[in-house]
Amino acid sequence: MHMRICVLSGNPKKDGLCQSVIEAAKEGAEAGGAAVAEIRLKDFNLQRCWVCGSGWGACRDENYCTYGSDGFDEIREQIQNADALVIATPVYWGETTEILKSFLDRLRRCDFNGDKVLRNKQVLLIASAGGSGNGLLTCLEQLERFCRHTGAVIFDYFAVNRWNSDYKKTAVKSAAAALASGRKNGDTL
Ligand SMILES: Cc1cc2nc3c(=O)[nH]c(=O)nc-3n(C[C@H](O)[C@H](O)[C@H](O)COP(=O)(O)O)c2cc1C
Repeated sequence: MHMRICVLSGNPKKDGLCQSVIEAAKEGAEAGGAAVAEIRLKDFNLQRCWVCGSGWGACRDENYCTYGSDGFDEIREQIQNADALVIATPVYWGETTEILKSFLDRLRRCDFNGDKVLRNKQVLLIASAGGSGNGLLTCLEQLERFCRHTGAVIFDYFAVNRWNSDYKKTAVKSAAAALASGRKNGDTL
């Protein structure tokens, strides 16, 4: 049975550094035997969280987003059906891109009670920086906090920039292959 790996991408571009790292992750995951599906959030017309009610809405009581028909439900289901995730984003202002941030905001809320689609799911985190290379740590820290809140298990983190991308892409590919082949957090090599 092949592992299903979902690549959740906050990258608005179809070329460039961030996409080349995503391609390395996909190649590695396929080499490790996984069936890989990339979700480009930019391809959807997703809303932000509307902070329903006095701060909580159906997300807390019934584990769904009131505005989920904008593509959110569909993506959440794909994430639920995946065995493991890759979350990848360019660094914007030391954070994830706004499309990824607003999607994760909603996903985290729907995972707060009841069905937790991310609990115990292994995740590979990838942040790629541009000009200055600044903000990689704060971006990954933001993603780490999301994982902590949802119970997702971080398999590895990658901070990629213009001058380390050659060897980081090699490592990303190997990490995705290891994830796809069933390596678990805590395994000793
Ligand atoms: C709005 C915006 C904000 C950005 N903020 C940062 C930043 O804080 N630090 C940084 O190193 N790069 C920053 N960048 C550059 C992107 O991280 C960079 O485009 C990407 O990671 C890698 O290059 P790519 O566009 O070829 O994929 C920013 C880019 C944009 C469009």
